[in-house]
Amino acid sequence: MKKTVIILLFMLAVNLKTFSQNPLLIPILIENTSINLKLIDSSHIFFDTVETNTFGVNGSVLGPTLRFNKDDSVVINITNKIGDTTTIHWHGMHVSSKNDGGPHSLILPDSTWSPSFKIRDDAATYWYHPHLHKRTNKHVQKGMAGIIIVTDSNESSLNLPREYGIDDFPLVIQTKAFDTTKQIILGTTQADSFIMVNATLNAYLDVPEQYVRFRVLNGASQRVFNLGLSDNGIFYQIASDGGLLNTPVSMNRLLLALGERAELLINFSGYLGDSLLLMSYASEIQKGIYGAMNEGATPMQIIPTYSDNPLNGNDFEIMKFYITNSTASAISSIPLVLNNLVPFLEADMDEFRHFQLNFTTSGATNAVMGPFDINGESFDMSVINEIIKLHDIEVWEIFNHSGIAHPFHIHNVQFFLIDRTMGGVPDNERGRKDVVLVKSNETIKFITKFEDFYDDEIPYMYHCHMLSHEDEGMMGQFIVEYQEKDTTSSITLNTKKDEISIYPNPIIINTILNIESDNEPIETLKIYDNLGGLIYYSKPNKTKFSINTKKLKKGILNLQITTNCTIVNKTILLKE
Ligand code: C2O
Ligand code: CU
Repeated sequence: MKKTVIILLFMLAVNLKTFSQNPLLIPILIENTSINLKLIDSSHIFFDTVETNTFGVNGSVLGPTLRFNKDDSVVINITNKIGDTTTIHWHGMHVSSKNDGGPHSLILPDSTWSPSFKIRDDAATYWYHPHLHKRTNKHVQKGMAGIIIVTDSNESSLNLPREYGIDDFPLVIQTKAFDTTKQIILGTTQADSFIMVNATLNAYLDVPEQYVRFRVLNGASQRVFNLGLSDNGIFYQIASDGGLLNTPVSMNRLLLALGERAELLINFSGYLGDSLLLMSYASEIQKGIYGAMNEGATPMQIIPTYSDNPLNGNDFEIMKFYITNSTASAISSIPLVLNNLVPFLEADMDEFRHFQLNFTTSGATNAVMGPFDINGESFDMSVINEIIKLHDIEVWEIFNHSGIAHPFHIHNVQFFLIDRTMGGVPDNERGRKDVVLVKSNETIKFITKFEDFYDDEIPYMYHCHMLSHEDEGMMGQFIVEYQEKDTTSSITLNTKKDEISIYPNPIIINTILNIESDNEPIETLKIYDNLGGLIYYSKPNKTKFSINTKKLKKGILNLQITTNCTIVNKTILLKE
């Protein structure tokens, strides 16, 4: 009874908000193979007349949608003007570790990072977001993230909606917390109650009376959504994280975990003049999943102030659709067959790995609040947790030994889920994926293959995509190795005019590091640690000089060298 009243009051509050509905922001579409992105420290109006400080990509909040074709070769120049070090990661995409944008690929303030790579991914919806260790949550919450659409020949041959902004829309669903002055804050469970789609509060969208495609991303930091339509109607999932499913899967609920994407088709025909709500039916989420009524798998496992958040365990509106006239080229049916995916076979497995998701100290509260780790190890930038061999097919088994569900994400590859101990693998999880929600006490298994890229130095990440868990160390790293690399050679860098050599690399602590320019004198040398902290600065004004590494910290270090005609960023590994 009490619950009903609360829900009614909450629904009433939702209805009152409809007086201040806002048109859904549709990020601009960039379809180029050479792209400039500028990360900016900005402000955005979420609430009437109040300016909220934000970080945006080419604008005040979020970033443009990037659309690529498979096999395109792209160059992306990312200039960092946020006044803090950051990184940009291409979530879900199969790129080399040096282009992947993980926590080792720092973009220092006022510098530009220019990854270039070939698009090897299948048609699907990917995304980009910052990945600086310990500051990922902050940088994402402040507004940096964007959608990537990849198309390929199979997808293009299908009769699917694909007119961006007309019958094909990205929906980035996030929640944020604001303080009393409407500034974005982190880490308060009860205040994280503002739901937004494409950075729009109380969003509405006019949609044509036909099949419309939505590329839905759960881009939140700590909330699972249980999507459904307010009339409980059926919709179709056509793609999972990394590609089209073999056939459309019909459903009236979709549990979408953090970092996951789903391409949905909603048939609005027959709704002309009506409206429909996209809801999260959070009252139906099973306990132990963040967003449910009960955050822990057992009644003892409680996050303080969790139940004060009106989004937890209550059904709520995500956005509203108004149905308008159909378009001239309306899609009125959907293909029965979408893809021809054949998962790798367990019989071909080269390696099996087991991972356990743990809470790090005992106590019922810690089982849901963390900090959490993976296999008893908290993330350390200088420790490689797993070494994988190129071309290997591996099965990863992940057991969640904590009281709360964690969305497990791996870089570099897409995988096929082959086992889920709670309820089996549903049809909509039988496609290519890069995130899987592992429930409390559940074990999942996936199979994948490590192809194309190997690098002895720069690792790829695997981690929980609850961004606070990730920042607190629920992350590990792996390298894909091909063969022994010659570790004694120096690095030679070609710059515009000056050639800069840094040697030896890797280097042992308490020895001499040489820095040499073949032409202009080196004006400044800055050395940053893995977290972007400046640990060494000098103005040598010489073409050749040396420093003793005892002044530095071991691990991967980032050097920025300037001469009067060039700036060079390079990493070295400082070892014991
Ligand atoms: Cu969405 Cu490691 O990232
Ligand atoms: Cu987690």
